[in-house]
Amino acid sequence: MRLEFSHISKRFGDHQALRDVTLPVPEYQSLAIIGPSGGGKTTLLRILAGLETPESGSLSIDDQRLDFSEEFLLSHRRSIGTVFQAYNLFPHLTARENVVLPLTKVHGLSLIEAHETVAALFDRFQLSAHADKRPAELSGGQQQRVAIVRAIAIKPRFLVFDEPTSALDPEMTAEVLDFIAELRAEGRNLIIVTHNMGFAREVSDQCIFIADGSILEAGRSSDLLRNPQNPLLVNFLAKVLRY
Ligand SMILES: Nc1ncnc2c1ncn2[C@@H]1O[C@H](COP(=O)(O)OP(=O)(O)OP(=O)(O)O)[C@@H](O)[C@H]1O
Ligand SMILES: [Mg+2]
Repeated sequence: MRLEFSHISKRFGDHQALRDVTLPVPEYQSLAIIGPSGGGKTTLLRILAGLETPESGSLSIDDQRLDFSEEFLLSHRRSIGTVFQAYNLFPHLTARENVVLPLTKVHGLSLIEAHETVAALFDRFQLSAHADKRPAELSGGQQQRVAIVRAIAIKPRFLVFDEPTSALDPEMTAEVLDFIAELRAEGRNLIIVTHNMGFAREVSDQCIFIADGSILEAGRSSDLLRNPQNPLLVNFLAKVLRY
């Protein structure tokens, strides 16, 4: 897929979260967004997912300009699979019900169709044994895998992940990152905000470095992460790779 940000600005109160972000992102399958805390990664991702509207500027996805009207955004949002930090499942529903619910309530599947879809996905991604457990009975990694299956179940145009492993321990992190790498191998389009540079390098073809509301460097992940140019990116990588 391709993206083009053109003069996107977004402010919250008197804080300028994105400053005139302009960038064509060439054809990619998987895009990583990296940068320091508070730099604007989540804001950019939320705009892409139609969850936030910028004050100014435009955004094209595969040469289709995003219309920021509420009516368009509603259908745009439904066409994208989103996965945020851990713990975004409904606690009172089982794993199965968590995935069935949006399929029937938002995407118009019958209850039978939804259950068939979920059974097939759980089977394929080794979650069948956990289908009838509530989130509290699942590990963080299992919960996050259910959240990812929920995002895939709607047959999204692409998937966005916002630090999907930030609440997980290292073993669970590896489990979830393996799962995302598997989705990439299946040919799905992914946009991932991550603090895990090894993962970004392995799983993404294009990478954006954003700090203080501006994209300071963008390019092929293999180049950008191995041979950073912008001093702030050099500094950032040195810091996150230190331990
Ligand atoms: N809803 C909001 N209301 C007020 N300020 C916000 C809101 N969302 C984001 N901000 C501010 O905008 C800036 C960018 O936030 P954003 O969440 O995009 O950063 P981030 O790069 O995702 O950071 P992190 O790595 O910590 O998640 C921050 O200074 C944040 O405090
Ligand atoms: Mg964030």
